[in-house]
Amino acid sequence: MRQGEWGGEHAFFSNHSYHWVARSQQDHFSQKTIHHATRQGLSYFRERSMEDIYEEMIAVSQEIASSFPQPRFYVACREPLNLSHSLFEEDLQVTKCRALVLEELRDDLGHGMDHARKVALEAGALAYVEGEGLFLKESLRREACLLAQIAGLLHDLRRNEKDHAKASASAASSVLQQISISPKQGAYIVQAIANHEAFMEPKKIDSPVGQMISDALYDADKFRWGPDNFTQTLWRMLRSSGAPIVPLIHRFPKGMEGISSIKKTFRTEIGKIYGPEFIELGLKIGEKIYLFLQERFSKELRQKS
Ligand SMILES: [Fe+2]
Ligand SMILES: [Fe+2]
Repeated sequence: MRQGEWGGEHAFFSNHSYHWVARSQQDHFSQKTIHHATRQGLSYFRERSMEDIYEEMIAVSQEIASSFPQPRFYVACREPLNLSHSLFEEDLQVTKCRALVLEELRDDLGHGMDHARKVALEAGALAYVEGEGLFLKESLRREACLLAQIAGLLHDLRRNEKDHAKASASAASSVLQQISISPKQGAYIVQAIANHEAFMEPKKIDSPVGQMISDALYDADKFRWGPDNFTQTLWRMLRSSGAPIVPLIHRFPKGMEGISSIKKTFRTEIGKIYGPEFIELGLKIGEKIYLFLQERFSKELRQKS
């Protein structure tokens, strides 16, 4: 089995089960509708209890993560990250782009605006740093930072679709037509988004700057497979879907293997240095969460086995 077949874009969900989660989310909304109609329907209690469980798991996993240090990337790249943050807040194209996708990214199975914003800020910092290696002058490094940020904002626009990187690239093209960006810059962004799927061979990009933006987006997105996955993304995906927790506990060790295998795939020089640590920290947090889950849900696990 190829890793891509199993891992998809989230290591705890195969493409098949990811779409199951997406479908469950639709069911979840229909359950809400039923609740509003009946007020005391059984589905209401089921929905509430799953939401409560995942709220609890977010709090527990954040508590566990708080005993671990921050990835060194945040110390080593503090200045580029600060610059990326300032540009993100000030640049008119980025501001317009954020406004255009805000509604679409509001709550997208754990890959909403919080995820897009973090990927944008860190992809921007990576592109700025890597631009020095390409001997770009300061203004071009800042421009590369902004293009990587826009790619970060748009990269998961079609997160729920099969072949989501290509689908998101196509959706991004439409958004880019609404902001003033050159065809060359737009092509860099669209190519980067099409290339961000995990465990898929990326397409080589002719331009060194375009390649660098693509690599920066990939690495910033895969940084999220570290602590963020175990403290936020995983639980938000499950909370959105109302999916049961016992199958997740059974899948947990396999999911950890999928996470681990991303370590060797980082593409930028900075990502190769600091990316594996994100993953190792995430896995250490994940191991503690797994122990907690086995104890906390021991009764449910015994009932199911
Ligand atoms: Fe993605
Ligand atoms: Fe993403």
